[in-house]
Amino acid sequence: MKLLKAIRLYTKFIYLFLLGKVIRKNEYKEEYDKVSRTYSRWIERMKKHTDEILRIDLLEKETNTDILDFACGTGYISNSLLGSIGNPHLSVTAVDISEKMLEIAQLEIDDPRCTFVLQDGMSFLEMEESEKYNAIYFGFGIPYFNRRKVVKQFNRILKENGTVHLISNCRGTLEGISEIYLDLMKDDPSMINRIMEIGFNLPKSEKSLKTWFSRYSFDTISLKTVNELMIFKTPIELYDWLKQTGAIAGTGKIFTESKVVDNKIIEKIKDTLAYKNQYRINHKFILAIFQKSSQR
Ligand SMILES: C[S@@+](CC[C@H](N)C(=O)[O-])C[C@H]1O[C@@H](n2cnc3c(N)ncnc32)[C@H](O)[C@@H]1O
Repeated sequence: MKLLKAIRLYTKFIYLFLLGKVIRKNEYKEEYDKVSRTYSRWIERMKKHTDEILRIDLLEKETNTDILDFACGTGYISNSLLGSIGNPHLSVTAVDISEKMLEIAQLEIDDPRCTFVLQDGMSFLEMEESEKYNAIYFGFGIPYFNRRKVVKQFNRILKENGTVHLISNCRGTLEGISEIYLDLMKDDPSMINRIMEIGFNLPKSEKSLKTWFSRYSFDTISLKTVNELMIFKTPIELYDWLKQTGAIAGTGKIFTESKVVDNKIIEKIKDTLAYKNQYRINHKFILAIFQKSSQR
């Protein structure tokens, strides 16, 4: 029976893949539009980690400094940099595909040194001139891009000795969540509307992230992994956290009937993520700084 269910599921995956029914940038954009008003929950909890990659000591603070905040979301990184650097010649370009996320960034940041760009990140990078930026910040955005193309473009648009400041979820994050989705899909493959390949884009480990960047002649300045556990009183609270913060952005597009699925997910959270009468989930991520090598 189990084998039969698995065969049905993988047949459906192949069928959807062949039809091109894979969640892509427009679906992610729509999902982030939806969470824009509640994304502050993520920032409040995670900003202590994001702050660690700001490393303004590595930036040139006196002369013209061009910074890119790539997939900037509601602009936490841009705002923090602008708030801590007085240099009138600082220029921050904040790019995102979600107009609602960017609207909030524009409300939060009142500084003429910041330019907002509503565009798909990859096409933005491809159109930028070479060796323009002193630093690129990339907060929790890796899974939405083709990593090889992004790192290659980062290398091209950075000045010599420019830095990439990165924080990214990695494999091992949200333990138990993909199993819940797979179980639901196995139970009723007819409800699957689209497939999601985001998990494959996450770095496996510090070593693999380092390899992605060293291929394009980046040196590693720092690397660190964090595993943050979050405990909730009820399964609904845990699920709300995942949905409201964008932690599972994209999954809202997997099933045809998301309302029915919501209740099933909550039931599965109750069964599989219980911990001492409460409910627990982890966020595992890597913090890294890479520098474009000057000897190429
Ligand atoms: C988890 S949020 C991170 C926001 C911000 N960097 C931070 O650290 O809070 C991911 C962001 O990536 C953006 N994004 C997803 N796909 C994108 C794309 N193709 N181009 C530009 N931005 C994209 C989303 O709209 C969202 O704002």
